[in-house]
Amino acid sequence: MATAPMIDARRKMLVTSALPYANGPIHLGHLVEYVQTDIWVRFQKMRGHECYYVCADDTHGTPVMLRAEQEGIAPEALIARMQREHLRDFTAFGIGFDHYHSTNSEESRSLSQDIYRRLKARGLIEIRPIEQLYDPVREMFLPDRYIKGECPRCHARDQYGDSCEQCGATYDPTELIDPVSAISGAKPVRRQSEHHFFRLGACREFLEDWLRSGRERRGGKAGAPLQAEAANKIEEWFKSGLRDWDISRDAPYFGFEIPDAPGKYLYVWLDAPIGYMASFKALCAQRGIDFNAFWEAGSDAELYHFIGKDILYFHALFWPATLHFSGYRTPDRINVHGFLTVNGQKMSKSRGTFITAESFVKHIEPEYLRYYLAAKLNDRIEDIDLNFDDFLARVNSDLVGKFINIASRTAGFITTRFAGRLTADLTERDRALLKTVQDAAPGLTRCYEERRYGEALRQIMELADLTNAYVNDEQPWARIKEAGAEQRVQQACSTALNAFRLLTLYLKPVIPRIAAAVEEFLGIAPLRWADAGELLGAHLVRPYAHLAQRVEKQQIAALLVAQGQGTVAQVSAPAPAVADAKNGKTPKKGSEQTAASTVAITAEEFARIDLRVALIVDAKAVEGADKLLELTLDLGEGGRRTVFAGIKSKYAPQDIIGRHTVMVANLTPRKMRFGVSEGMVLAAGAGDGDLWLIEPETGARAGMKVK
Ligand code: 2FM
Ligand code: ZN
Repeated sequence: MATAPMIDARRKMLVTSALPYANGPIHLGHLVEYVQTDIWVRFQKMRGHECYYVCADDTHGTPVMLRAEQEGIAPEALIARMQREHLRDFTAFGIGFDHYHSTNSEESRSLSQDIYRRLKARGLIEIRPIEQLYDPVREMFLPDRYIKGECPRCHARDQYGDSCEQCGATYDPTELIDPVSAISGAKPVRRQSEHHFFRLGACREFLEDWLRSGRERRGGKAGAPLQAEAANKIEEWFKSGLRDWDISRDAPYFGFEIPDAPGKYLYVWLDAPIGYMASFKALCAQRGIDFNAFWEAGSDAELYHFIGKDILYFHALFWPATLHFSGYRTPDRINVHGFLTVNGQKMSKSRGTFITAESFVKHIEPEYLRYYLAAKLNDRIEDIDLNFDDFLARVNSDLVGKFINIASRTAGFITTRFAGRLTADLTERDRALLKTVQDAAPGLTRCYEERRYGEALRQIMELADLTNAYVNDEQPWARIKEAGAEQRVQQACSTALNAFRLLTLYLKPVIPRIAAAVEEFLGIAPLRWADAGELLGAHLVRPYAHLAQRVEKQQIAALLVAQGQGTVAQVSAPAPAVADAKNGKTPKKGSEQTAASTVAITAEEFARIDLRVALIVDAKAVEGADKLLELTLDLGEGGRRTVFAGIKSKYAPQDIIGRHTVMVANLTPRKMRFGVSEGMVLAAGAGDGDLWLIEPETGARAGMKVK
């Protein structure tokens, strides 16, 4: 049974996300955008379009220069390290760039300098002197953020050079009272220098046309170049007048020199978006793609930028004008998203709501964040909130409880009773369910294309509900015991697994790794969008292995503790003779241990301690700690835990990897100097060399409760 395949002409598309600065880590706020873009790109690729996704580190500017200086390294060394870290984080979150580049690259230099020359030749660069504050000690002009002083309006002290946090006034840094350099502490002096300005005001007519022209383009596929809210903002900017843009900075500056202007550098925001082109250029060289076909004026390739609302001005005014007047094509569409709040709060280091990608990955499956963000994303510029209670509920009840559940409750019968074989011989009822699931494809196509991911996931979960209701009704677990009902069980489970395959296809842009595991289990080629028109016939599937685990509160608690946020209710555990996480110390003979063994607890208290068999999957020494090993423990369905245990004097890592032990699994995660410890392992003995890890009998499996 095949419904009409969804074919449309193969589109050529180039897609970008904003380039992250090379002076800080990737955090969850960044990930909203990369996840949003990556889902869109994966969807377009599944549809069979020629779609490329490029990005790069945004490496230039004063903050990178100063940070490198502080660390006593060259800026090149700093940006190389940051790039590795950024890529590591993106990879962990399944962000599938076709190429990830650096703005400090040869492609970037030649494109940037060439574009500058072209703009100059068009008469769009004006050079004139301006007066700025200069640090006579550090011998550099000071960017606004590096000047502090008294607000000229409300006289609040210690305000930045561009705006006052107390009264909200914005001003010129030369207006600050008693300014000081935040770099050297010196009193800045006024000094003149020549700056290069891009005459944005002269581009107004072009920009107005560009904003309006979009609707008819590409058969309406790309639509208007901006969302309505963003277009309104631009109108406001038009009304208040387009000011010329200062695109030069004086040495010392980490960036590209301006051609024929010694000691002058291109401002980081000029070369940043050119980084999109540079990254694509490097990809073209690798894969033999025609760069010009994508970038020449009049190109029929589609160009999409995904950005946050804070950098709209750069992308919707400067960037199209820069491109157009240097002879290139302009973007078809700039997709703007809002900011991320965490538990309703602005992300902030001091509040502990600043969560890095690296930290998240240590505690929680990254694909679950993709799922959660997708559930919250739509085509508007609203801020979205990561609420951890909601996160837990959505992942556990929808993704695991609805979607994964379909396979976990039906696949076993196919393996054990039917040698892994599905049947193609389905009833009317079975086919009706599958048709409903297949018929959702065109609507879901529109949702993904238009970035209404939340709506897509709602529809997909409704289909999962329908499928689960069907399975509830068929009751394969009961029927399998009835004589003569075998065929019906095979039909029902085959129908459920067919529905599961279709739902996997629909979810694949959001959860690519889980989808790949499902493809493996089903023994099928990577799913493409058009495959929604097909069903599996008398097909052989592999034995089912668990595809996704629930998120535990404990994992979220561990993440929040690692970020320095509050604690969760503590289980009142007595201290057993334990290889302890506390302060990295092993309890020794004497006071600590005696105290521990003499504290009386009730049977109820003891019953609250969750002891579990854990498999030691990894163990390693902890740099700077004499007695600690960092253990990675597998708790089966309970996921993985990191525990710091004071057992190094007794065990070398290689002695214990692969062994089972017993752990206290419901202890409050504890932040230690070396990381967060998410439990304790049990050991007997007096401590140090006299210490034996408790081992369960052979045959015990990870995750088993110890009674
Ligand atoms: O705002 C930022 O984080 C910038 N690094 C974004 C640059 S996007 C593009 F223009 F390169
Ligand atoms: Zn003020």
